[in-house]
Amino acid sequence: MKALILVGGFGTRLRPLTLSVPKPLVDFANKPMILHQIEALKAIGVNEVVLAINYQPEVMLNFLKEFETKLGIKITCSQETEPLGTAGPLALARDKLISDSGEPFFVLNSDVISEYPLKEMIQFHKTHGGEATIMVTKVDEPSKYGVVVMEETTGQVERFVEKPKLFVGNKINAGIYLLNPSVLDRIELRPTSIEKEVFPKIAADKKLYAMVLPGFWMDIGQPKDYISGLTLYLDSLRKKSPSKLASGPHFVGNVIVHETATIGEGCLIGPDVAIGPGCVVDSGVRLSRCTVMRGVRIKKHTCISNSIIGWHSTVGQWARVENMTILGEDVHVCDEVYSNGGVVLPHKEIKSNILKPEIVM
Ligand code: GDD
Ligand code: MG
Repeated sequence: MKALILVGGFGTRLRPLTLSVPKPLVDFANKPMILHQIEALKAIGVNEVVLAINYQPEVMLNFLKEFETKLGIKITCSQETEPLGTAGPLALARDKLISDSGEPFFVLNSDVISEYPLKEMIQFHKTHGGEATIMVTKVDEPSKYGVVVMEETTGQVERFVEKPKLFVGNKINAGIYLLNPSVLDRIELRPTSIEKEVFPKIAADKKLYAMVLPGFWMDIGQPKDYISGLTLYLDSLRKKSPSKLASGPHFVGNVIVHETATIGEGCLIGPDVAIGPGCVVDSGVRLSRCTVMRGVRIKKHTCISNSIIGWHSTVGQWARVENMTILGEDVHVCDEVYSNGGVVLPHKEIKSNILKPEIVM
């Protein structure tokens, strides 16, 4: 079985992290976002993943080469010379997606996180006999997403409206699709949107079906949602594989700590924290609702909450970092500095307080 992941886009909403790596390679819960997806696809029998990409394919391929062998899955790129939107890339990769058996293939947005119930999705797809299945989930703020109006019992989609201005419903497109090859006949090779141009037509032909996604879901393409997504992810880990969570007197709530990270005496860590490989957390540090990426050093008595600390950064002693502070790669926050929502570009040194949310260049 095959799958295509929509990787394009510059990930501007996740800057400064995406100044260092393409969005799908930004770590989430100690693993690049895209690896969560590739592993889930592999687990249900996908053996070839096509990355639909419009910039820096070498960076992605070099990085993923290691996982091709490790996971035993073929990973290839389909590179656009101009951004083709969310449907055009499918037309471009047409030959890679069609197989002799004519079986359906998966399409995933690269920035969504969930328990990926892909097996259940295949089951559902087989029973309804339509051309396409999309996963949907309920949200409080549907206007940021593609909204789906469906017949509750059969799942048949009556309407698909991308980013509606007026309220249509609260079930939204989760960015996980299973499509029959015939869907490719509906897509021209030009910049085009699957949400605006393809799904509404399949729905009008009564061949689009939606399945309500069991479990959690989040689009983690913006810092606030990234941090909320971590809470949901760790919560689900608690239910499914609690042994992966850290335990002991240092920890409260759900926390993951990479095996190569070290935690000093008298720290209090959690809830909802991910500490990456090689991190060094000195004594007396307080961390909650935050992600600390590979190679970070946090000096003693520092307090970090609701923030993301990018790769190889250092936070000095007695510092206070909070309110959606995002440190890019290799940022150095000096001792006793306070950051209230600072968004700091890579390789900077922060010597004075950041008193209100702002971008530090
Ligand atoms: N290859 C390629 N080329 N990929 C692209 C391009 C392009 O030109 N433009 C966007 N993508 C990729 C993005 O990288 C992302 O993985 C996916 O397509 C969706 O784009 P976003 O920019 O993240 O869209 P969104 O979050 O505003 O809305 C989409 O996702 C929502 C769920 O998170 C839509 O699919 C909505 O309907 C959906 O509800
Ligand atoms: Mg998105």
